[in-house]
Amino acid sequence: MRIDAISIFPDYFSALDLSLLGKARDKGLIEFQAHDLRAWTTDKHKTVDDTPYGGGAGMLMKPEPWGLALDEILGVSETSDELSDATVIFTSPAGDVFNQEIAYDLAKESRLVFACGRYEGIDQRVIDYAATKAKVRLLSIGDYVLNGGEVAAIAMTEAIARLIPGVIGNAESLAEESHSGEGLLEYPSYTKPSTWRSMEVPEVLLSGNHARIAAWRYQQQVERTRRVRPDLLPPEAEI
Ligand code: 6GU
Repeated sequence: MRIDAISIFPDYFSALDLSLLGKARDKGLIEFQAHDLRAWTTDKHKTVDDTPYGGGAGMLMKPEPWGLALDEILGVSETSDELSDATVIFTSPAGDVFNQEIAYDLAKESRLVFACGRYEGIDQRVIDYAATKAKVRLLSIGDYVLNGGEVAAIAMTEAIARLIPGVIGNAESLAEESHSGEGLLEYPSYTKPSTWRSMEVPEVLLSGNHARIAAWRYQQQVERTRRVRPDLLPPEAEI
Protein backbone atom coordinates (compact mmCIF):
# COMPACT_ATOMS: atom_id res chain seq x y z
CA MET A 1 0.00 0.00 0.00
CA ARG A 2 1.11 3.54 -0.74
CA ILE A 3 0.12 6.24 1.77
CA ASP A 4 0.69 10.00 1.29
CA ALA A 5 -0.11 12.70 3.81
CA ILE A 6 -0.43 16.42 3.04
CA SER A 7 0.07 18.76 5.98
CA ILE A 8 1.69 22.03 7.01
CA PHE A 9 3.50 20.01 9.71
CA PRO A 10 4.95 17.03 7.80
CA ASP A 11 7.47 16.44 10.62
CA TYR A 12 4.63 15.02 12.74
CA PHE A 13 4.76 11.92 10.56
CA SER A 14 8.31 11.01 11.58
CA ALA A 15 6.57 9.09 14.39
CA LEU A 16 5.73 6.51 11.71
CA ASP A 17 9.42 5.70 11.20
CA LEU A 18 9.39 3.95 14.57
CA SER A 19 8.67 0.32 15.42
CA LEU A 20 6.10 -1.66 13.50
CA LEU A 21 5.48 0.74 10.65
CA GLY A 22 9.17 1.37 10.09
CA LYS A 23 9.67 -2.38 9.70
CA ALA A 24 6.71 -2.67 7.33
CA ARG A 25 8.32 0.04 5.20
CA ASP A 26 11.68 -1.71 5.27
CA LYS A 27 9.95 -4.92 4.11
CA GLY A 28 8.36 -3.00 1.21
CA LEU A 29 4.79 -3.65 2.43
CA ILE A 30 4.02 0.04 2.90
CA GLU A 31 5.34 3.16 1.21
CA PHE A 32 4.70 6.33 3.18
CA GLN A 33 5.44 9.92 2.21
CA ALA A 34 4.53 13.13 4.05
CA HIS A 35 4.30 16.34 2.00
CA ASP A 36 4.49 19.98 3.07
CA LEU A 37 1.41 21.82 1.77
CA ARG A 38 3.46 25.02 1.61
CA ALA A 39 5.42 23.53 -1.30
CA TRP A 40 2.33 24.25 -3.43
CA THR A 41 1.92 27.89 -2.39
CA THR A 42 2.88 30.52 -4.96
CA ASP A 43 3.37 33.66 -2.82
CA LYS A 44 6.43 34.86 -0.98
CA HIS A 45 4.87 34.23 2.45
CA LYS A 46 3.71 30.68 1.56
CA THR A 47 0.19 31.54 2.69
CA VAL A 48 -2.15 28.62 3.33
CA ASP A 49 -5.01 30.32 5.21
CA ASP A 50 -7.47 33.18 4.88
CA THR A 51 -10.58 34.59 6.59
CA PRO A 52 -13.92 32.81 6.05
CA TYR A 53 -16.60 34.31 3.78
CA GLY A 54 -19.66 35.15 5.85
CA GLY A 55 -17.55 35.92 8.90
CA GLY A 56 -16.90 33.80 11.94
CA ALA A 57 -14.00 32.97 14.18
CA GLY A 58 -10.65 31.74 12.99
CA MET A 59 -8.98 31.12 9.67
CA LEU A 60 -9.75 28.66 6.92
CA MET A 61 -7.32 26.86 4.64
CA LYS A 62 -7.47 28.43 1.18
CA PRO A 63 -8.18 26.19 -1.81
CA GLU A 64 -5.36 26.93 -4.26
CA PRO A 65 -2.44 25.12 -2.54
CA TRP A 66 -4.68 22.14 -1.78
CA GLY A 67 -5.82 21.94 -5.41
CA LEU A 68 -2.24 21.93 -6.73
CA ALA A 69 -1.08 19.43 -4.09
CA LEU A 70 -3.94 17.01 -4.74
CA ASP A 71 -3.53 17.26 -8.53
CA GLU A 72 0.14 16.38 -8.28
CA ILE A 73 -0.14 13.63 -5.66
CA LEU A 74 -3.22 12.05 -7.25
CA GLY A 75 -1.89 12.50 -10.80
CA VAL A 76 -5.05 14.26 -11.97
CA SER A 77 -5.88 17.68 -13.38
CA GLU A 78 -8.91 19.94 -13.60
CA THR A 79 -9.09 19.55 -17.38
CA SER A 80 -8.61 15.78 -17.70
CA ASP A 81 -11.17 13.00 -17.16
CA GLU A 82 -8.49 10.80 -15.59
CA LEU A 83 -9.54 9.49 -12.16
CA SER A 84 -7.16 8.53 -9.39
CA ASP A 85 -7.24 5.04 -7.86
CA ALA A 86 -6.46 6.58 -4.45
CA THR A 87 -8.88 7.17 -1.60
CA VAL A 88 -8.51 10.68 -0.19
CA ILE A 89 -9.18 10.97 3.54
CA PHE A 90 -9.91 14.45 4.84
CA THR A 91 -9.37 14.48 8.60
CA SER A 92 -12.24 16.33 10.22
CA PRO A 93 -14.04 16.35 13.56
CA ALA A 94 -17.18 16.57 11.37
CA GLY A 95 -16.42 13.26 9.63
CA ASP A 96 -17.64 9.69 10.16
CA VAL A 97 -16.07 8.28 13.31
CA PHE A 98 -13.19 5.97 12.36
CA ASN A 99 -13.42 2.43 13.74
CA GLN A 100 -11.99 -1.06 13.21
CA GLU A 101 -14.46 -1.85 10.42
CA ILE A 102 -13.37 1.25 8.48
CA ALA A 103 -9.74 0.30 9.17
CA TYR A 104 -10.33 -3.15 7.61
CA ASP A 105 -12.03 -1.54 4.59
CA LEU A 106 -9.22 0.95 4.03
CA ALA A 107 -6.55 -1.76 4.51
CA LYS A 108 -7.80 -3.27 1.20
CA GLU A 109 -7.03 -0.09 -0.77
CA SER A 110 -3.87 0.28 -2.84
CA ARG A 111 -3.45 4.04 -2.19
CA LEU A 112 -4.52 6.40 0.58
CA VAL A 113 -3.95 10.16 0.69
CA PHE A 114 -4.51 11.90 4.03
CA ALA A 115 -5.37 15.59 3.68
CA CYS A 116 -4.75 17.10 7.11
CA GLY A 117 -6.55 20.34 7.79
CA ARG A 118 -5.52 22.93 10.39
CA TYR A 119 -7.24 26.09 11.59
CA GLU A 120 -11.04 25.89 11.21
CA GLY A 121 -10.79 23.49 8.28
CA ILE A 122 -10.40 23.57 4.49
CA ASP A 123 -12.49 25.46 1.90
CA GLN A 124 -15.35 23.03 1.07
CA ARG A 125 -14.62 23.27 -2.67
CA VAL A 126 -11.36 21.33 -2.14
CA ILE A 127 -13.33 18.37 -0.80
CA ASP A 128 -15.93 18.68 -3.57
CA TYR A 129 -13.17 18.86 -6.21
CA ALA A 130 -11.33 15.84 -4.78
CA ALA A 131 -14.59 13.87 -4.89
CA THR A 132 -14.72 14.38 -8.69
CA LYS A 133 -11.23 12.85 -9.05
CA ALA A 134 -11.03 10.11 -6.41
CA LYS A 135 -12.96 8.32 -3.68
CA VAL A 136 -13.22 10.71 -0.73
CA ARG A 137 -13.94 10.10 2.96
CA LEU A 138 -14.21 12.58 5.84
CA LEU A 139 -13.01 10.84 8.99
CA SER A 140 -12.84 11.82 12.66
CA ILE A 141 -11.10 9.83 15.40
CA GLY A 142 -13.61 10.67 18.12
CA ASP A 143 -15.76 13.26 19.81
CA TYR A 144 -13.14 15.80 20.87
CA VAL A 145 -11.27 18.54 19.02
CA LEU A 146 -7.61 18.45 17.97
CA ASN A 147 -5.75 21.46 16.59
CA GLY A 148 -5.17 19.66 13.32
CA GLY A 149 -5.59 16.35 11.57
CA GLU A 150 -1.98 15.13 11.79
CA VAL A 151 -2.34 13.11 14.98
CA ALA A 152 -5.62 11.70 13.65
CA ALA A 153 -3.94 10.67 10.37
CA ILE A 154 -1.11 8.98 12.28
CA ALA A 155 -3.61 7.07 14.44
CA MET A 156 -5.59 5.94 11.40
CA THR A 157 -2.42 5.02 9.47
CA GLU A 158 -1.25 2.80 12.32
CA ALA A 159 -4.66 1.13 12.68
CA ILE A 160 -4.88 0.48 8.92
CA ALA A 161 -1.27 -0.50 8.24
CA ARG A 162 -1.16 -3.20 10.92
CA LEU A 163 -4.04 -4.98 9.13
CA ILE A 164 -2.05 -5.35 5.91
CA PRO A 165 -0.94 -8.99 5.58
CA GLY A 166 2.67 -9.42 6.70
CA VAL A 167 2.87 -6.26 8.83
CA ILE A 168 1.97 -8.08 12.05
CA GLY A 169 3.97 -11.25 12.67
CA ASN A 170 1.19 -13.20 14.38
CA ALA A 171 -2.07 -12.83 12.42
CA GLU A 172 -3.96 -14.69 15.20
CA SER A 173 -3.33 -11.79 17.57
CA LEU A 174 -5.44 -9.61 15.21
CA ALA A 175 -8.47 -11.89 15.56
CA GLU A 176 -8.34 -11.93 19.38
CA GLU A 177 -7.95 -8.23 20.12
CA SER A 178 -10.64 -5.73 21.10
CA HIS A 179 -12.95 -4.52 18.30
CA SER A 180 -12.24 -7.61 16.18
CA GLY A 181 -14.18 -10.82 15.62
CA GLU A 182 -17.23 -10.82 17.86
CA GLY A 183 -16.75 -7.15 18.76
CA LEU A 184 -16.12 -7.77 22.48
CA LEU A 185 -13.34 -6.04 24.41
CA GLU A 186 -10.23 -8.07 25.25
CA TYR A 187 -10.02 -10.25 28.37
CA PRO A 188 -7.39 -9.26 31.01
CA SER A 189 -3.98 -10.90 30.51
CA TYR A 190 -1.21 -11.96 32.91
CA THR A 191 2.40 -13.12 32.63
CA LYS A 192 5.04 -14.29 35.11
CA PRO A 193 5.55 -14.06 38.04
CA SER A 194 2.35 -15.75 39.27
CA THR A 195 2.50 -13.64 42.46
CA TRP A 196 3.48 -9.97 42.18
CA ARG A 197 3.15 -7.40 44.98
CA SER A 198 0.92 -9.95 46.75
CA MET A 199 -1.45 -10.10 43.77
CA GLU A 200 -2.15 -13.55 42.32
CA VAL A 201 -2.80 -14.51 38.71
CA PRO A 202 -6.37 -15.96 38.51
CA GLU A 203 -6.13 -19.66 39.39
CA VAL A 204 -7.93 -20.83 36.25
CA LEU A 205 -5.07 -19.56 34.04
CA LEU A 206 -2.62 -21.84 35.87
CA SER A 207 -4.93 -24.87 35.61
CA GLY A 208 -3.86 -26.06 32.16
CA ASN A 209 -7.54 -26.73 31.43
CA HIS A 210 -8.02 -25.12 28.03
CA ALA A 211 -11.81 -25.37 27.99
CA ARG A 212 -12.07 -23.71 31.42
CA ILE A 213 -9.61 -21.02 30.38
CA ALA A 214 -11.53 -20.26 27.19
CA ALA A 215 -14.83 -20.07 29.12
CA TRP A 216 -13.31 -17.78 31.77
CA ARG A 217 -11.81 -15.47 29.14
CA TYR A 218 -15.10 -15.24 27.26
CA GLN A 219 -16.94 -14.42 30.50
CA GLN A 220 -14.35 -11.71 31.28
CA GLN A 221 -14.83 -10.25 27.80
CA VAL A 222 -18.60 -10.11 28.15
CA GLU A 223 -18.47 -8.64 31.68
CA ARG A 224 -15.91 -6.02 30.73
CA THR A 225 -17.80 -5.04 27.58
CA ARG A 226 -21.09 -4.80 29.53
CA ARG A 227 -19.41 -2.59 32.16
CA VAL A 228 -17.28 -0.32 29.92
CA ARG A 229 -18.94 -0.36 26.50
CA PRO A 230 -22.49 -1.74 26.68
CA ASP A 231 -23.07 -0.24 23.22
CA LEU A 232 -20.71 -2.90 21.78
CA LEU A 233 -22.44 -5.91 23.36
CA PRO A 234 -23.88 -8.22 20.68
CA PRO A 235 -27.42 -9.41 21.54
CA GLU A 236 -26.31 -13.08 21.61
CA ALA A 237 -23.50 -12.52 24.19
CA GLU A 238 -24.90 -14.47 27.18
CA ILE A 239 -23.59 -14.89 30.72
CL1 6GU B 1 -9.76 13.96 12.23
N1 6GU B 1 -9.33 16.38 13.25
C1 6GU B 1 -9.40 17.28 14.23
N2 6GU B 1 -8.90 18.50 14.01
N3 6GU B 1 -9.94 17.03 15.41
C2 6GU B 1 -10.41 15.81 15.59
C3 6GU B 1 -10.36 14.81 14.64
C4 6GU B 1 -9.82 15.14 13.45
N4 6GU B 1 -10.93 13.70 15.14
C5 6GU B 1 -11.31 14.02 16.36
N5 6GU B 1 -11.00 15.29 16.66
